[in-house]
Amino acid sequence: MPSTYEVLEARLQSAFDVLKLGSDPVLRPSDRSDYQVNGVMGLAKALGRPPREVADELVAALDLTGLATVEVAGPGFLNLSLTPAFLGQQLNELVTHDRLNVPVSTKPKTIVIDYSAPNVAKEMHVGHLRSTVIGDALARINRFMGHTVIARNHVGDWGTPFGMLIEHLIDLGEDAAVQSLSMGDLDTFYRAARQKFDSDDTFKERSRARVVLLQGGDTETNRLWRLLVTQSVAYFQEVYDKLDVLLQPSDVVGESFYNPMLDDVVTDLKSAGLLVESDGAQVVFLPGFTNRENEPLPLIVQKSDEGFGYAATDLAAVRDRVGNLHADEILYVVGAPQAQHFDMVWAAARAAGWLPESVRIEHVAFGNVLGSDRKMFKTRSGETVKLVGLIDEAAERALAQLQARQSDMAADEQAALALTLARAAVKYADLSTERQKDYVFDLDRMLAFEGDTGPYLAYAHARIRSIFRRLNEPFLGDNVAWTLSDPSARHLALGLLALPEALDATLNTLQPHRLCTYLFDLAQRFTTFYEACPVLSAEGSLREERLALCDVSARTLSLGLSLLGIDAPERM
Ligand code: ARG
Repeated sequence: MPSTYEVLEARLQSAFDVLKLGSDPVLRPSDRSDYQVNGVMGLAKALGRPPREVADELVAALDLTGLATVEVAGPGFLNLSLTPAFLGQQLNELVTHDRLNVPVSTKPKTIVIDYSAPNVAKEMHVGHLRSTVIGDALARINRFMGHTVIARNHVGDWGTPFGMLIEHLIDLGEDAAVQSLSMGDLDTFYRAARQKFDSDDTFKERSRARVVLLQGGDTETNRLWRLLVTQSVAYFQEVYDKLDVLLQPSDVVGESFYNPMLDDVVTDLKSAGLLVESDGAQVVFLPGFTNRENEPLPLIVQKSDEGFGYAATDLAAVRDRVGNLHADEILYVVGAPQAQHFDMVWAAARAAGWLPESVRIEHVAFGNVLGSDRKMFKTRSGETVKLVGLIDEAAERALAQLQARQSDMAADEQAALALTLARAAVKYADLSTERQKDYVFDLDRMLAFEGDTGPYLAYAHARIRSIFRRLNEPFLGDNVAWTLSDPSARHLALGLLALPEALDATLNTLQPHRLCTYLFDLAQRFTTFYEACPVLSAEGSLREERLALCDVSARTLSLGLSLLGIDAPERM
């Protein structure tokens, strides 16, 4: 069933077609009326005609019988007001619809999402937090729309550092090493290895020899490598569980997975005539990529020592994702500094014929997380902030907030709620900023019950649910006679009908903050409505209508938050 917006847009499109106006209409929800058609002025200008004339012509061609009334305003805006009958019909469908009128995609796609991707034996940093949280939201929304999402956790599990990491593991002894890694002491482990590598020449030699053994497939070396990977992946999983994201160990498809495919990458690139030798390395030069001195920038496929690097793996990954997984869309949720790397990899993949134009491929880039000093978020001694610690600290603060309130909630329920709010706070703060922008990590602001925060939205939801707990009879909402006489009720209703567009906008722009903005706006519409319109003390059909608005508001908030990976508790 098409959404309210789609019904109107289709009518508008026909009018545009009849008039052969060429361009696409721009229809927007509006505070002036219910919806507004924009862009007539620009169109008229392009046609060299007076805007009012084009607007009038459009009104004459527009068939909105039974749906809406329309009037031309200002220099050429079209204001649309839905008829009570159409509005009522749309709302009745919404009340009884378990997906809140969000259609399942008629063109289900296979979407590969490359996200999280921490590195073995290294602490996950806040950049990995962003990738994990944004990727999780995009995975959830796409799945909800009926697409097949394949999560690819492109863990850094290969490369020259593994020589020193394995040697350090041997020095420590397996048991001690496992102990340290399973405690999530990844950075201490990594730093100790790096320090020996930098200061001890024999250790350096051993490390180099170890890399050769690793690449040569030596059994014992591979067992030790596997140990590092398994321990790290188990630790990452603890972080994912603490964050409550969908990622599972089976989603880990690390860099090493592509090792067996690298020779084919080279063969393909060679036969396409793309591979050239440069300073002993095998590289691809791609038109349009130059360094600061304006010299052509090479994409290094195979280094002079014959080793493969990050780019080769990503080339193999594109080839695999299109060729074997049949991806229609590939999303890379990775920090902004890697933009050029991806541009070059995709350009090479296109040139090699692995990446048809029909595949949507996007770098879902994001900005930095900053400390209160507006510098990169680090601990006071300059170390990577542990993600688990962040959530734990947020939960402690949330618990303190809850305990300071008068409530009859049992202690264990309070603790569970504190964790839910901690996750909501951290995730929402991340998702609600435009992702390319940096943001300051400020737990107190994130946890506030007021303002554009996760806890505020969770609270808005719980508050509505509490209305239904005070209701003596079950609420069915199957036969509401909509009048929406109060403007705040109408404003809320229109907001509720706009969920499909909020989700579309989120997926088109790959900006989860679009959904956040929608939910926050909806919660505010609800508050205004609830202040103006008493619910339980209302009677008859007015009470039914208001209860229905409450019910759909709570369900919309709950669904919307769940698509962001945030739980909306029943009571708070
Ligand atoms: N492991 C990398 C890092 O920590 C991110 C990998 C992103 N994904 C990819 N296909 N390159 O920066």
